Amino acid sequence: MKIDVFTLFPHWFEWFRTQRHVTNALGLGHELTVVDLRETTPLKAGQVDDTPYGGGAGMVIRVDVVGAALEARYGTAPPPHRTIALSPGGGQFDDALAAELAAEPALTLLCGRYEGFDERVNEHLATDVVSIGPYVLSGGELAAMVVADAVTRKLPGALGHEESAVEESFSAALEGAPEYPHYTRPYDWRGHEVPDVLLSGDHALIREWRLAQSRDRRRK
Ligand code: ADE
Repeated sequence: MKIDVFTLFPHWFEWFRTQRHVTNALGLGHELTVVDLRETTPLKAGQVDDTPYGGGAGMVIRVDVVGAALEARYGTAPPPHRTIALSPGGGQFDDALAAELAAEPALTLLCGRYEGFDERVNEHLATDVVSIGPYVLSGGELAAMVVADAVTRKLPGALGHEESAVEESFSAALEGAPEYPHYTRPYDWRGHEVPDVLLSGDHALIREWRLAQSRDRRRK
């Protein structure tokens, strides 16, 4: 999979690309490229934004700037693959979308700043507008990392051991419910003991208990 991130702050991603599951994915042949929107701006002095039509506070990232950056990289704008604009006003990101995106051969993530993108970016250059939650971040960079993280850990081999991304919170294996509780040694910590079923050795019973716990968490 090729993930391209377009941002005004490329250095934010330097730390991200050193994280284990990302380096694992890169080692398997997947690619993460970070593109500076300023590098291809058709405007003078690296300008990328402008004042909003109709007035109001803040600056808006121009559609021609984003278009030029996409054209420089892909030869076409919109790109020939799934393109996500990160915005607090977008549809809620969830595990199902992460799984869907992990099956794509290429993914472009567009990080907004200031008041966000000119609406024509969302309408004509992106295939999806995605929010990571109902709060406003200072830009789309952390949101793009959240999406890239959730997608990357679903790529086969990225976690090192296959099972862990299959049966986890919100996965189809758990019917979309939060994951069941985990325990390890010590068996008894200050009188709080591990549930006996987990020491029973009865795998069918353990599986049943875990599913019940998972459903119970969803209900709560
Ligand atoms: N940009 C600013 N806030 C955001 C959010 N909650 N989700 C996605 N992109 C954002």
